[in-house]
Amino acid sequence: FNYSLGYPNDMLPACKIEVPERLTVSHEALVKSGLADRCVSIPVREATEADILLVHSEDYLEAVKKTPFMTLEDLKEFTLQYGDVYFHPNIYHCAKLAAGAALQLVDSVMTGKVRNGMALVRPPGHHSMRSAANGFCVFNNVAIAALYAKQKHGAKRVLIVDWDVHHGQGVQYSFEDDPSVLYFSWHRYEHQKFWPNLKESDYDSVGKGKGAGFNVNVPWNKVGMKNSDYLSVFCHVLLPVAYEFCPDLVLVCAGFDSAIGDPEGEMCASPDIFAHLTHLLMNLAGGKLCAVLEGGYNLTSLPQSVCQTVQTLLGDPAPLPVNLDGPCQRSVSSSVRFMSQMCVCDFVMKVNYIFLFSAHSSLFTVFDQLIGCTGPEKSVEEKVWPEPSKRVAPPVRTAAILPNGVSCPDGCKRFSSSEDPDPVIVNKLRYGAVAVCFMCSACVCLVKKTDVNTSHVRLFVLPQGCSDVSGFIQAVLGLLLPLGYEYDPSLVLLVRAPESGLSDSVWQQLTGLLQGLAQGHTLVLMQV
Ligand SMILES: *[C@@H]1O[C@H](CO)[C@@H](O)[C@H](O)[C@H]1NC(C)=O
Ligand SMILES: *[C@@H]1O[C@H](CO)[C@@H](O)[C@H](O)[C@H]1NC(C)=O
Ligand SMILES: [Zn+2]
Repeated sequence: FNYSLGYPNDMLPACKIEVPERLTVSHEALVKSGLADRCVSIPVREATEADILLVHSEDYLEAVKKTPFMTLEDLKEFTLQYGDVYFHPNIYHCAKLAAGAALQLVDSVMTGKVRNGMALVRPPGHHSMRSAANGFCVFNNVAIAALYAKQKHGAKRVLIVDWDVHHGQGVQYSFEDDPSVLYFSWHRYEHQKFWPNLKESDYDSVGKGKGAGFNVNVPWNKVGMKNSDYLSVFCHVLLPVAYEFCPDLVLVCAGFDSAIGDPEGEMCASPDIFAHLTHLLMNLAGGKLCAVLEGGYNLTSLPQSVCQTVQTLLGDPAPLPVNLDGPCQRSVSSSVRFMSQMCVCDFVMKVNYIFLFSAHSSLFTVFDQLIGCTGPEKSVEEKVWPEPSKRVAPPVRTAAILPNGVSCPDGCKRFSSSEDPDPVIVNKLRYGAVAVCFMCSACVCLVKKTDVNTSHVRLFVLPQGCSDVSGFIQAVLGLLLPLGYEYDPSLVLLVRAPESGLSDSVWQQLTGLLQGLAQGHTLVLMQV
């Protein structure tokens, strides 16, 4: 949708950062890396008026409909009634295509035609409200997609993850009292000094009425947030809630202004972190995930981040997480504060924060001590970062060594047990760093071995009573994953004991989540 939103003849204020090149450089990067070739490309359609009216008012739609016929004078007048948005005679058409692209993607994913996907669109959507354009956004692409998935495909619960660096207040307003759509957003906030400067972007906006508890805001009060801060919030705030919510579909407001080098975000997370964030979300909703582009204004980090996201959606192993020097204390403590706030708010949802907060608040202390905090990062004018290294998928992704007579599952390659084991794996087992994790009915243990000689081992055992499904998953998210990411193993070895008491679906989640570590190098031993 390569329409310029700039105005002719300098007659109207032009937008300096929300430029057509955002899409062209992203698409070129996907083509150049060979990723575009591996995707099914889905034809775009315009959103219908009925689609748009799912979220927007008739008056607003009628007003926007007139913009292609306005004189530049009238357009200018029209534009000025809204905040930080620029209307071009073409924008109505583009906005219908942007929303329609998100709907085409939802159709393809919900009908199983494709597993997941990403829509590269302009204008973005998450700031636009029922009756107002705002912040470069005309129609709320993702909010429309969520209601469309419910109406057309019978989705019961939709999770919206907004990792754009701005608060998608338009999405929040759309679903504030709706318990069927859970909206999560982190955003640069700086105690309300950062745009859009709203009180309701703070952590205490948790939703209203029946929707109380279904709106989760994580405001960043400082810039310079790093990979470890993002992962920490995913592990401790978003994922525990998301697993309890159990969505049928995950929609991502995929703004990449939260990446390093962005003039709006001023954050320090590197493009490869989006590979991990995507991976962690792909274990939800049976992998049904639609990412829709929102912001992202650095024309170097934007295409890198888009490629990282798409490559993970294609199923390639996640890269080794880089620069994980521990989240800053402030991000962890803001999660804790957030959760205490949830309790104060008479939080009635059947969410297991209470489990985390009351029974296991000591885990946060453990976590803090383990990883420490390097203190606030100074914002430097010119950020430099290496290009993300190439991620290569092995020709055989999954191999199974099975007893005779047991048939090989689809997609696996069978090795006979007499074959020589892969020397690389043997080497890693012998000399490399190995994270070992094993389960028994009442405990989770993570054994950490930094090197064969020193045999430095740390062991954590959770109290009894966590063998129920939600408790187990909470322990994986709140303890095992953070430790795993911090430890950065080169191989994950998983042992399933016959008495583990874990159901197949929980086991599937566990292996799925742990595949974000060690570039997906996972060795599973099934004891029978
Ligand atoms: C993007 O980041 C690079 C590297 O720091 C920088 O040179 C460039 O000016 C940035 N672009 C924008 C639009 O901020
Ligand atoms: C391991 O221990 C052996 C014998 O004590 C020693 O020769 C070797 O240098 C040690 N290796 C490392 C990596 O410390
Ligand atoms: Zn943004």
